[in-house]
Amino acid sequence: METRILNTDEEGIRTAGAIAASGGLVAFPTETVYGLGANAYNDEAVERIYEAKGRPSDNPLIVHIADKAEINKLAAEVSENALKLIDAFMPGPFTVILKKSGSIGGAVTAGMDTVGIRFPENDTAQRFIRAAGVPIAAPSANLSGKPSPTEARHVIDDMSGRIDAILDGGSCSVGVESTIVDASRGIPVVLRPGGITYEQLTAVVPETIIDPHILESLGEGEKPLCPGMKYKHYAPNAEVTVVEGGMAEVKNKIDELLEQNRDKVCGVLTMSGNAYDSAVILCAGTTNRDYAKNLFSCLREFDRLGAEVVFAEFEERDGYGLAVRNRLYKSAAQRVIYV
Ligand code: TXA
Ligand code: MG
Repeated sequence: METRILNTDEEGIRTAGAIAASGGLVAFPTETVYGLGANAYNDEAVERIYEAKGRPSDNPLIVHIADKAEINKLAAEVSENALKLIDAFMPGPFTVILKKSGSIGGAVTAGMDTVGIRFPENDTAQRFIRAAGVPIAAPSANLSGKPSPTEARHVIDDMSGRIDAILDGGSCSVGVESTIVDASRGIPVVLRPGGITYEQLTAVVPETIIDPHILESLGEGEKPLCPGMKYKHYAPNAEVTVVEGGMAEVKNKIDELLEQNRDKVCGVLTMSGNAYDSAVILCAGTTNRDYAKNLFSCLREFDRLGAEVVFAEFEERDGYGLAVRNRLYKSAAQRVIYV
């Protein structure tokens, strides 16, 4: 299959919308990461998403809308807390989980009785969804297990030949995925930290809690609320190790690790002015917000540069720290050294 690269001009958007409406797969930019979209009402098209990504079929997709009125069609009930969150954070980097209505097929929700709904803020995303004229089911547009794409070229690298089109809308401003909040049963629970911070959520619904599994790996036989939690994620080719703590101690530890790995191509992902010898160094930025924006593209860049092992500096500095830590720990398969 030839994958068309489309511009975000009128014609590009119209073409992308028509492809999606008629059952094709279109990758599109959002403020978080690129999504791989299909008509959410077309189960056959949705199944092709799982195939193109190599995604396990028990991992449900988020439904993207460009009009809040769609929520009442997709969801069976919207609680008062859900309504507050929707009012505060849609459009934006936020996904709400609600009890689903009968309008959405089993392929999108992987057989669950709930549906994740997201109204992206990104203008291209909104224009694309409106042009399609239907809600768009979309996961991140990476091959399953790889870092999420934050630029069109990342999608081209992973998806060329596997999907119908890619809408090139430049780089994503947030860089990590949406914050997912389950508001389908009582107290809202954060299932995945992301572009909306916990502080922002509790300012609107103070009783909101965080699922403890966000930063841990699951125990044997444990069943997560968010099926995606149990799969390998965000992994570059290199073996990643997170070194977390004060930056002086982090520097000493990474120097020691570089010494031990002298025979390998080493990379260091920094968030300080620390300098390192004999390593490929990429800076993610000094705030957690910048770290979030640059993390996935840095992981992909380490692959391009042939890094075999990567040491990632990390320190929690602002409200985006939780989202960065969650992605970093997963990309490192929970290899974390606290100093
Ligand atoms: O920012 C984002 O959310 C991006 C952009 C493209 O919108 N999308 C995204 O989709 O990250 P994906 O499929 O890569 O991650 C969605 C996560 C998965 O871990 C999935 O298990 C979970 O959301 N999820 C989807 N529907 C759910 C549901 N009904 N209940 C619980 N978790 C759900
Ligand atoms: Mg994903």
